Amino acid sequence: MVDKYKEIFDEFSGEAGDLIPILQKIQNKCGYISDDAIRSISPFLRISDNQIYGVASFYSQFRFTEPGRNSIKVCMGTACHMKGGHILGEAVERELKVKPGQTTEDKRFDFQRVACLGCCALAPVVQINNDIRSRMTVIRLKQLLDKYE
Ligand code: FES
Repeated sequence: MVDKYKEIFDEFSGEAGDLIPILQKIQNKCGYISDDAIRSISPFLRISDNQIYGVASFYSQFRFTEPGRNSIKVCMGTACHMKGGHILGEAVERELKVKPGQTTEDKRFDFQRVACLGCCALAPVVQINNDIRSRMTVIRLKQLLDKYE
């Protein structure tokens, strides 16, 4: 069986220090780090699946579920939390029937709660794909979600 990650592995020597760049390349190629990817990396770097998962899960840049067609991030940083960010997060869960870190069944959205989107003065903030939506309310958020296929 030809390993689907062979092309990526060919760029590396198989040292433990190759783990992060390999994970980055796999995520760039596939959109996320699957169990299958971790099982393929393990023999190449001679480290266990659990060790790979332990390292990868430390970094917020890596995701372990297939991304949706759209990505929604609700800010849970202090400024946003104080202005109702948690209520927006609950609204997303309710409206889309999805938990943080998951993708909706129809693959329309993936949902993440994030620490700070870097525009605290505009709190509460939601990011959909590359668009920052400021001073968001539950009503505006519901209307906005309907615009994404
Ligand atoms: S706390 Fe939400 S943007 Fe900074």
